Formats: sequence, C-alpha cells, structure tokens
Amino acid sequence: MKDQGLGVDVIINDIQSNPRCTHGPTILFERFQNDGTSKRYYACSACRDRKDCPFYHSADQKFTQAKAEVWQDVIKKATPTLTHAEVYKRAKVIKTLSPSERMYCCDCSQLIGSKQQGHHKTHALKTSVSDEQLKKPSTLLPPKESSRFEAQYLFAANSTDILMSMLEQLQARKVLCLGAPRIFETIVNSPAKKMSALLLDIDDRYGAFFSPEQFLCYNMFNHYFFGGEMAQNTYKKFLSGKEKMVVVSDPPFGGRMELLGHNLLTVQNEWRDANKLTKADQLSVLFIFPYFMEPQVLENLPKFTMLDYQVDYDNHPLYSSGMKGMINGSAVRVFVNDHPSLFPLPDEKGYRHCDICNRWVRTNNVHCEKCKGCMSKDGRTYKHCDECNKCVKPSWMHCSNCLKCQPQDHRCSEMAHGAKKIFACHICGEEGHKRMDCPKRKRSLAPSVSHLKKKKQKLEKKMEKESVGKENIKENSVSKKSMKNKSKKGKDMPAIGKPNAGKSPEAKTKTDTKTGITNVTKQSKKFSTKQKNANANAKNKMTPMEKTKKKNNKKKMKN
Ligand SMILES: C[S@@+](CC[C@H](N)C(=O)[O-])C[C@H]1O[C@@H](n2cnc3c(N)ncnc32)[C@H](O)[C@@H]1O
Ligand SMILES: [Zn+2]
Ligand SMILES: [Zn+2]
Ligand SMILES: [Zn+2]
Ligand SMILES: [Zn+2]
Ligand SMILES: [Zn+2]
Ligand SMILES: [Zn+2]
Ligand SMILES: [Zn+2]
Repeated sequence: MKDQGLGVDVIINDIQSNPRCTHGPTILFERFQNDGTSKRYYACSACRDRKDCPFYHSADQKFTQAKAEVWQDVIKKATPTLTHAEVYKRAKVIKTLSPSERMYCCDCSQLIGSKQQGHHKTHALKTSVSDEQLKKPSTLLPPKESSRFEAQYLFAANSTDILMSMLEQLQARKVLCLGAPRIFETIVNSPAKKMSALLLDIDDRYGAFFSPEQFLCYNMFNHYFFGGEMAQNTYKKFLSGKEKMVVVSDPPFGGRMELLGHNLLTVQNEWRDANKLTKADQLSVLFIFPYFMEPQVLENLPKFTMLDYQVDYDNHPLYSSGMKGMINGSAVRVFVNDHPSLFPLPDEKGYRHCDICNRWVRTNNVHCEKCKGCMSKDGRTYKHCDECNKCVKPSWMHCSNCLKCQPQDHRCSEMAHGAKKIFACHICGEEGHKRMDCPKRKRSLAPSVSHLKKKKQKLEKKMEKESVGKENIKENSVSKKSMKNKSKKGKDMPAIGKPNAGKSPEAKTKTDTKTGITNVTKQSKKFSTKQKNANANAKNKMTPMEKTKKKNNKKKMKN
C-alpha cells in the first residue's frame, strides 16, 4: 500500500532566496513518512495542485544551472507582454465607451469594445458592461473558484457591511486589502468613509480596472510582488504615514497558515520600519479564516482572538447562511488582534452581548459558568462535560474508551491516537515537541529510502547532466520528456548549483538561485497574463495551466 505519510511541514527559511516558479519564490517543504523518514523539497507557494504549477525540486539535489534556465524560460513565457500601466491605459479607452459598446472577454481577461468583437468570436463574452461593474469588477469577473489555487469566494453584501463597520470601529484611515477585493472596492467607491486602500491580490485581472497605485499583483504565500521594485515601492509608500492603518485579509482557506502568519508578521515589521515604530506598536488586522482552523491560526498568530461573527459569501454554498448554506451558518470567522469588545455584532442577525465575556457572540452561544466563557465555535449551543472539564459540541458523547468526548460515530482506535494528542509528535506520539524536532526522526536519505527511489534520483541527475530541454514543460513534472533530446548545456554554465557540502539545503539554495532571481524580477514587471492570448498566435503559446483555466472559464461562462 502507498505510504500516505504523516503530513507535510513548511520550512520557513529565507524564502526570497528559494528557487522560483511562475508564482515567485517556491517554498521548502518536508514530507514525513510513516517509517520516520522525511524528504525535503521545493514546491510552489501558491498552488497546491501540481496541475496548476508543476514546480518540484528535491532539496537533496542540486538546482542546476540547466534546471534554473528551464524555469527562467517558463517564467518568461508566462510573463505577460503588457505592463500593468499599459493594460490599465488600454482599458481606460474602452471605459469611455457607452455600456452597450463595452464587453468583457472572459477568455482573454480583457475589456473590449464591441467593434473588436470579431477577434473574440468563439470566446465567452459578457456584453453591456455597466459603470457599476467597472467600479466593482468583482461583480463582473467570473470568480476563479479552484479550491487549490485562487479560491475566489466573494463576500455577500451583509458581510461586506459588517467588515466595513469593523474597520470604522478601528478608526481605520488606510486599509491594506490582502486578497479582499470587495472591501477594496467598497472603500474606493465610498469617499464619505474617508479611507484609502491598496489591493494586493494574485488575480491580475484587476489590473484593467485599478491603476498601479491602487492594485499590486501579489502572492501572499511568499510575500512576492509580481511588479518588482516599482510595486514594492508603491506598497512601502502606502505603509508609511501616521494615519491609522488596518490590514484585511481573506486568504484561500486551503492555504498554509504558517506562511500566511509569517507574511502577515512581515507586513507588520515593514509597517513598523516604514514609520520608525517599536515592537510595542501593533498593526491591527482582520484575518478571515474558518473556525475549525482556529488552532492553526492561533499557533501562528498568537495575539489573535476569534470573533463569533459568521462571514457570508455570495458564491460558496458551504460558507454562507440561508437555504443553501450550512445548517449552523457559515464556518468562516474573523480573527482580530484588538480586543473583541471593539466589534459589536447586530442583534437582528442573531448576536448578543455577553456582559461577562465583554464581547458579542451568537445568541445561542450560551455562557458556561464552569469554563467561564461563551465556548461555542460552530454556532450551536455547546454542552459542558464534567469529565473532560470543557464544553463540547452538542452531538458529542463522552467515550469511556477514548476518555474524552467524541462524535457518536467515531472509531475509537483511530481517534485515540490522532485526536487525543492533537499537539503530540506525529512520529513518536510524545507531547512536548513536534515531529520536526523529534529525536526519533530519521532525516532525508535515511537508509530506508527505497532502492527504487535512489535509482530514480540517479537517473534524473544523469538526465539533467546530459541534456536539458527548455520547451514542452508538461503538467505534473518538470517535463522529463523535455529533458531529453537537447544540446549539452550544463558544462559551460556559471557555477550556480555547486554542491555545498555541510551546508543546510536553505543555505545551498541561496547561492543556487541568485542568477535566476535578477532575471525573474526584471521580467515580472509586465502585466496581465491573458492579454497576450488575444493575439492570433496565443493559442499555440499557451501554457497547459492557461489552457486548463480557459477551459474552466468557458464552462462557467454561458453568460
Ligand atoms: C477567499 S477569496 C477572498 C475574497 C474576499 N472574500 C472578497 O470578497 O473580497 C481569496 C482571495 O485571495 C486571492 N488569492 C488567492 N491566492 C492568492 C495568493 N497566493 N496571493 C494573493 N492573493 C491570493 C484571490 O484572488 C481572492 O481574491
Ligand atoms: Zn508556482
Ligand atoms: Zn477573447
Ligand atoms: Zn460569555
Ligand atoms: Zn463549559
Ligand atoms: Zn467528555
Ligand atoms: Zn472512543
Ligand atoms: Zn517525537
């Protein structure tokens, strides 16, 4: 049977020095196997599916010059031909047309005039683009709902209002929106609120609607700005200044919390640096994530508290209330680093103030005298278990086998190990340390690495040395096919990727990727991936990723 493993850890090293894919620096991961061995590798920070980004590099192997070149080429091909400023300028012309003459091509991700329609005959078009849609493009652009990449779920109007009122409670004057386009759109279209905003999001389609001073294409998993130095300067300029700044972030829920937490703290540090502040100064944040991720959120952002407010979405059945939603309402919550008493919640929507806790909670979140708090997490009334000495979900029963409350249909043997010691080491089962620091762990390349795996590695190495192709990068692999049939490259290359005996993989990569980095940063100033698809040759030049996206878009867009 295939070893499913114990899970994958993120290793937070100097991320900016890691090898790069089309989404900026990759992340060093460590996969733990059931036999106690582990393996380190670099993979994409933003895409959890190799179909979306095939970058994979074993940390045990050199990131050779040849492989770096292959990736530089992939990045170059994925880099849009137009800059953000050019895309914005081009769209500006279309915006002057009347609504009936304006169209949006979902395949090319481009605003077009009706006269250009002929070039987009077979494409999915949205006709008659209103002024309101131009002001709030999240109402025009088809959401990219891939749960393993962008996961675009948009706030319902009632939740946008509540989040706006939270910002007002915090007396925000500047709002940095990290993956929160609806909040950004609301702020820039409500001058009476006297707030300014900067949108940081990976969706470059917003570039046609918002200027390079308002929107930056950004990856929140590696704190990478696709617009290079110019974009970073815009961001730094926004951070500096005495007005009260607040961050609103609604990341894809499947994203690694370690990275989100790390990068939020980086933003806080950069905000402090920009304003000569001290560690005592705290940047206020509204961080939006599901309630069942509370342990992970608090582990990475320990100063945060989860509010009881249930965030509703327009386009997610599980994360909304009402007929299609979850019985107990949305599972998504707001985590704050200011006191929860600052965030009033409306009684007419089913919230009340708990005077003892001094915070607003759902009406059916009953205060427990024994726990000294309103303990419900999922919106239901919890019950107190005297044996567990805590409040638990109403449907759970105390299991004499597991010695704790459990769902009624649980299987004792499974849960006893996994759930009882949620913070115990996954390798030895002891509490007090994590698998990363387990004394019983066997490091990568331990003797138990199968003969087959070794043989495969050897073969891959040999292939890299001998010949490396730059084209036909296929999904799911750094195209082994493409590594065949190409001229010798490696030998005359500058000495990047030399073995660094004795150094950690992190240190190795630092030297390995230097050349790649300069190159990539220069190229990544260009904008809007899909603009280039508009020209006649685009179809042939599309990457597999673009093709898949195009297919998905078509399916969704039947107007
Ligand atoms: C769950 S949606 C949040 C949208 C928000 N609810 C709203 O209505 O404004 C996630 C958002 O993060 C963006 N996103 C996804 N992956 C990202 C990444 N790696 N870096 C930055 N933004 C990302 C998506 O484009 C999307 O806007
Ligand atoms: Zn990637
Ligand atoms: Zn088109
Ligand atoms: Zn209470
Ligand atoms: Zn209790
Ligand atoms: Zn119990
Ligand atoms: Zn049990
Ligand atoms: Zn251990």
